[in-house]
Amino acid sequence: MVEYKFLTPEQREHFLEHGWLLVPGSIPKEHVDQWMKDVWTRLGYNPTDPSTWTEETIWMPRHRDMLTKEFSPDAYKAMCELVGGEDRLDRVRNAYSGDQFIVNLGTEYWKDHDIDPRTMPAWHIDGDWYRHFLDSGEGALVVIQVYTDILPRGGGTYICEDGLEGICKFLYEHPEGSGNKPETGMYDHIKKCAAFKQFTAKAGDTILMHAHLPHCTGKNHLRKLRVIANPHVTLKEPLNLNRANPEDYSLCEQVILRALHKPSLPEYHATTARERYYPRNYVAKFSRVQGELERMVHAAEAAGKSRDEVDSVYLKGEEAIKVHNVRNGLGGEVQASQRITVA
Ligand SMILES: [Fe+2]
Repeated sequence: MVEYKFLTPEQREHFLEHGWLLVPGSIPKEHVDQWMKDVWTRLGYNPTDPSTWTEETIWMPRHRDMLTKEFSPDAYKAMCELVGGEDRLDRVRNAYSGDQFIVNLGTEYWKDHDIDPRTMPAWHIDGDWYRHFLDSGEGALVVIQVYTDILPRGGGTYICEDGLEGICKFLYEHPEGSGNKPETGMYDHIKKCAAFKQFTAKAGDTILMHAHLPHCTGKNHLRKLRVIANPHVTLKEPLNLNRANPEDYSLCEQVILRALHKPSLPEYHATTARERYYPRNYVAKFSRVQGELERMVHAAEAAGKSRDEVDSVYLKGEEAIKVHNVRNGLGGEVQASQRITVA
């Protein structure tokens, strides 16, 4: 039986009904501030001059991390209860929260233009590093850690609440598994959906989304810095959609059963091997490391500090990079490109 000591009955019902949950104020301010203090240095933009903001949305690499259990204790408690208990969590993969920010700065164009969310091109469920099945546990929860206040129209993630059912149906009808790209047809139903929402939140909040809740990057019409990180919760085993005791179903499992209008799914079995891949998006993020490190080191030196005070895994030696790679599914070895020098 799943025990609930943190989530209230209202919060549990909200997750079941909407496929997501806000855990307000769940990242201590000192953790937000610690990683946010050099975000503009890393970006290389002038915070007061939007003409220097040459990119709209930026996926940044990870320099530092901390066990999620320590980084955001309340969000961690919520994660554990949503998946049915801490013992179901993978203790390495995705157990750490880091500063791989996703920055949304908007553009001048979007200041006075709008878009119908149904027509946005980038609807997706997360997970470029595994083959998706109805019961996949690799990305059981999609986590949005909020580092800046997100105002209405301020670049918050869009979700499609009534699109979750269609994702579950698609995966149920494809026990051979699927990728998560649009050409799979997995998102074709979204243009007929109606329950769209753009998140707003406060710095320090955490939003926990079900793996099968479709979402996309929202437009930032305000040109006010919006920073989130988007880690995941990974389970040791796939979800179990055919439990002997119904009280053992996690809330994540119950969302799927509800979406398919079934009390259990004894007939569902993955019919091909579960596969994990090298994350597609790592290469693009990593391409920014050299520039970020140079700016971080030069900023430290300009402030009269030693470069040893710059906090980045890439300046801490081979062993630190190996650990980073294991935690992030990048293999156990240091890649030649990861040995970075800053002049
Ligand atoms: Fe996403």
